[in-house]
Amino acid sequence: MSEEMGDRVSMSGAASGFGSRKEPISASARRASRSKALPLSRITASDAERVSSGIGEMDRVLGGGIVPGSLVLVGGDPGIGKSTLLLQMCRNLTDEKQMGGVPARVLYVSGEESQQQIKLRANRMGDFSDSLLVMCETNLSDIQEAIAVLEPQVVIIDSIQTMYSETVSSAPGSVSQVREATGVLMQLAKGLGVTIFIIGHVTKEGAVAGPRVLEHMVDTVLYFEGDRHASYRILHAVKNRFGSTDEIGVFEMKGNGLREVLNPSEFMLEGRPEGASGSVVACSIEGTRPILIEVQALTAPSNLAYPRRTVDGADLNRVNLLLAVLERRLGLSLSQADVYVNIAGGVRMKEPAIDLGIIIAVISSYKDIVIDPRTLVFGEVGLSGEIRSVSQAPLRVREAEKLGFSTVILPQACMKSVGRTEGIRLIGVRTVRDVVTAVN
Ligand code: TYD
Ligand code: MG
Repeated sequence: MSEEMGDRVSMSGAASGFGSRKEPISASARRASRSKALPLSRITASDAERVSSGIGEMDRVLGGGIVPGSLVLVGGDPGIGKSTLLLQMCRNLTDEKQMGGVPARVLYVSGEESQQQIKLRANRMGDFSDSLLVMCETNLSDIQEAIAVLEPQVVIIDSIQTMYSETVSSAPGSVSQVREATGVLMQLAKGLGVTIFIIGHVTKEGAVAGPRVLEHMVDTVLYFEGDRHASYRILHAVKNRFGSTDEIGVFEMKGNGLREVLNPSEFMLEGRPEGASGSVVACSIEGTRPILIEVQALTAPSNLAYPRRTVDGADLNRVNLLLAVLERRLGLSLSQADVYVNIAGGVRMKEPAIDLGIIIAVISSYKDIVIDPRTLVFGEVGLSGEIRSVSQAPLRVREAEKLGFSTVILPQACMKSVGRTEGIRLIGVRTVRDVVTAVN
């Protein structure tokens, strides 16, 4: 780091939600390493300490906001929007109004782009306050020094693959460098109470040196995903020491940055084909929110010895199981057909409640039956072809109502919990046979 940088800027200011550090780095770091045992009753910690990122969808995924002093890894494919998302967060954290008059001191360290490039990106997003500092550096000890001098409360490292420590001889981006760098950052976060966000690229070839090896070292791991060619992006947690990992945040990439999508169902269902077979709307609960998604299937006669099974957005083994159920219980000859299943929108759904959507999409394609686009389905399918109940049926039905659906096909066992509904027809099903009758 150059001399003049340390001289020119001092970021010390009033305390914000992140608290302030009064001691010089070495003393507080030493104190942190000398651990003290305390009874739980003497330890204070409350959720009120969380700081809002100014992005509701991100707060939701973090478990209610940023926990000061935590180490957060944000992973995703190159070009998906990680830098954009975090720069937007920096803008909010340093905005006086958003922070109730006390902007946080934030340091954005980029090893990927020049200050000019970051400026150009920032220009598209709007105004930034001076309590955000941008530094282009890849040498870890220089970054450590900058943190000691500037005393930021939040640091962004963009990206971990570009950082290197002189104590490790291998190239930046290698497993040992990435591990070493994360270890150093972890000590900074824990010793000084600095909140650190680390950006990590996940690439198919480079996955080994990517964020996966770091997951156990950090408090929270967020992944930013989506189809790069489409505009929506999904943020979800795969690990969170401070909250659930079920919530997802939905964003849309616009010309001026990322926009939060407050009603994901509406968004996911956009551009749905009408009057085509092999498509149905299913409902999955992600965290606390029901999300409606389109399940698509295509079956085609195959002349391969092992017919193709291609699944996108759902679990392949689960789909294989459901296909076996359809073959045995309904006599569909799927063993001579290629089957493609796709959850539209690039989201990955794991909830068994989408089983019913998958089998209806397959039946619809196989029998060439068009499912009414205003029909929503949910339910788990068992090995004997029984339709099993799922949690939170009333919430799912309400979401369907809100979006103007007219029919819901659901497990018979859920009918009672849903009760009477107005303006929406409920069809309870017990077995896959009932399902065929219901969609015909
Ligand atoms: P970026 O945040 O650089 O991705 P990452 O850091 O994950 O590699 O985002 C890259 C893409 O986003 C790039 O193709 C341009 C696009 N983009 C927009 O569409 N609108 C914007 O306002 C910005 C800043 C980027
Ligand atoms: Mg980037």
